[in-house]
Amino acid sequence: MAFPESFLQELKMRNDITEIVTSYVTLKRRGRNMVGLCPFHGEKTPSFNVYTENGSFYCFGCGAGGDVITFIMRIENLDYVDAVKYLAQRAGMELPENSYDDSLSRLRNRVFEANRTAARFYFDALYSQTGRAGLDYFHSRGLSDRTIRRFGLGFADDDWTSLCKYMRSKGFKDSELVAANLAVQRKNGNGIYDRFTNRVMFPIIDLRGNVIAFGGRIMTDEKPKYLNTSDTPVFKKSANLFSLNNAKNSGTRTLILCEGYMDVISVNQAGFANAVATLGTALTSEQAVLMKRYADEVIICYDADEAGQKATARAIPILRNAGLLIRVLNIPNGKDPDEFIRSHGADGSAAFKAVIEKSGNDVEYRLQKLRLANNVETTDGKVAYLEAAAKVVAEISSPIERDVYASKICAELAIDKNSFMRQLENISKRRYREGAKKQARKIQTDLSGRNDKINSEHYKKPRSSSAEEALVVYMINNPDSAEEIASHLKPEQFQNSLIRRYYEYFLGRIQSGYEPLTNIAADFTQDEASKLFQLLSQSVAAASTHSAMMEYIKVISEESRKPSSEDVASMSPQELSDYLEMIRKNKR
Ligand code: UTP
Ligand code: MN
Repeated sequence: MAFPESFLQELKMRNDITEIVTSYVTLKRRGRNMVGLCPFHGEKTPSFNVYTENGSFYCFGCGAGGDVITFIMRIENLDYVDAVKYLAQRAGMELPENSYDDSLSRLRNRVFEANRTAARFYFDALYSQTGRAGLDYFHSRGLSDRTIRRFGLGFADDDWTSLCKYMRSKGFKDSELVAANLAVQRKNGNGIYDRFTNRVMFPIIDLRGNVIAFGGRIMTDEKPKYLNTSDTPVFKKSANLFSLNNAKNSGTRTLILCEGYMDVISVNQAGFANAVATLGTALTSEQAVLMKRYADEVIICYDADEAGQKATARAIPILRNAGLLIRVLNIPNGKDPDEFIRSHGADGSAAFKAVIEKSGNDVEYRLQKLRLANNVETTDGKVAYLEAAAKVVAEISSPIERDVYASKICAELAIDKNSFMRQLENISKRRYREGAKKQARKIQTDLSGRNDKINSEHYKKPRSSSAEEALVVYMINNPDSAEEIASHLKPEQFQNSLIRRYYEYFLGRIQSGYEPLTNIAADFTQDEASKLFQLLSQSVAAASTHSAMMEYIKVISEESRKPSSEDVASMSPQELSDYLEMIRKNKR
């Protein structure tokens, strides 16, 4: 199961955490740590910390934490074994043989292979007799053979077993096809059948060129119009984007965000390789953070219908939070990008380029929407427009930009700029107060541990938990003290079961002569590791002297002697009075 300790230690030594993180995040020195914008959630002020001393990271914003292996697991979307392999390769180290359980990693590789083989099968079908309908369909939608090849499009015929049969002949097991979601188990348990039938196929390819999933479109008006691969060991819908593999190499730091497969492909065919789309779900902050790795600016290019406009409004704050600049494309006549480009025939490319150049930033887009929604010829409409517009402008963080928009709005409606600016100031002040209150409340609940799902027992037993946490942290930072601590405390005396597990684990490692933190990524879940590194990163504030250690031990022993409230409830009067007597003695 495990890699040898010495191997992992060398791996960590040769893969400096600061250096690794720096290739994804811009870090600045702050005191003894390095800080930057968290790559795992959208934020504007840095709360992502890297601690060179013990080779760990922790984000105070989203609670992600761990060591260099956990970091690679999260950011590259790899499992433990593959993350170790990745780092070993990076450092030019040989992997020790047969020392790890790589069943998950093997399954993932089989799923990748199955997907690649299936994509080839679907593509070949498209250009065979059975695929005629599919090829005609793509041609009728204006796709050239070159585009079809570039995207590796394909065709799934209407026989419910043709893919299964082919894949078996290539040596794939039924279980592997089901794991890849290329096939589905029959309800009665008797065998499997193809997941995709009678559809044109769109393979989804990740940044390393692996086929990770498919979308399939029916060629008629039947529903569902698109069927997508469900989440599998290699695919998470909410964390991937269609065609990011092409967009990444497009040579710009701008992405065009579309709603669907066909839009992306049409936009590509018109000469813009930087188009991407979400995969049948609303945009997530995970996807926005992913885009930020390859882009500084995103042009939202959703359908002009009502659903598209709503989706645009939802996407704006998500993208802005990830630190992306935003422009919104306005497609005339209620068309989607694909229809728009096609309707211009040979001039599609030029026409689309013109629309992109006209596209405003998100503030302009939102002001324009408000302008259309209110009749500024009437007094009421004018007031409503100005109030709503002030709210939009008040969100802009740059004062210069704010002033530009204020001037523009006031000039447009011929009103006094000073009163508009006062209105803006009032909104900002109110927002600031609300924000500060909200933040204070969040800190309150965080401190009380009420929302802590991983360490849920802390909240129930705050006194013992705090001492237990501090002691475990002390022991990790001062392994020499482990024997002394162990002589005072047995694991059973820990009230908090998570912290008790940490205690047993680290005590065991130190007593066996191992460095405490080397194997965290393998021995704990990502959440448990995050929690641990949260405690370690907060330890800066906790006392770390020998006398503090003795104090923690005292509190833990005291608390472990206290009966629980259930015990007290079931005590006889005599037991209760003995117990109270004992507490009084201890106090003195
Ligand atoms: P649309 O309904 O706008 O389709 O869905 P479209 O992209 O314009 O496709 P064509 O032009 O009719 O072929 C937008 C996207 O939403 C997802 C797909 O990713 C699609 O590309 N979707 C839509 C589904 O996942 N399932 C559906 O049933 C419909
Ligand atoms: Mn369409």
